Amino acid sequence: MAIRKVVVEGDPVLRVRAEEVPPESFGTADLAQLVDDLIETMRSANGVGIAAPQIGVSLRVFIADSSDGPVALANPVITGHSAKTVTEEEGCLSVPGQFGQVPRYRSLEVEARAIDGSRLKFTAEGFFARVLQHENDHLDGVLFIDRLKK
Ligand code: NI
Repeated sequence: MAIRKVVVEGDPVLRVRAEEVPPESFGTADLAQLVDDLIETMRSANGVGIAAPQIGVSLRVFIADSSDGPVALANPVITGHSAKTVTEEEGCLSVPGQFGQVPRYRSLEVEARAIDGSRLKFTAEGFFARVLQHENDHLDGVLFIDRLKK
């Protein structure tokens, strides 16, 4: 495990669509290492989520803290969401010192792969759903400052 340097706003890696994790990467030591590094880096920065582009790796992988601990998702897709949104304050390890009110869907349906390649399908709500939306945005080059409530 290693704490990696978190890239900040202005680095182009935060503004591009990250690549899908290719099928042959699932179950590999390299992917497990990436996830370990993401978790350690998130913990060291007291974050509640972190996406691979934030450590300069343009892959569709992120970590989101849940009540059961950190969850690692690869190639996530938000397949459904509530009509209602909730607006709360967010910040980001890649946008140090800035916070703002961001509307997010209250609940989500998510499909993804675990790092062993197994299929995951679940619903999320509340704070966990917020973190998932924030991290999923990172995979598309979107930052929370793009979504501030006007
Ligand atoms: Ni962020």
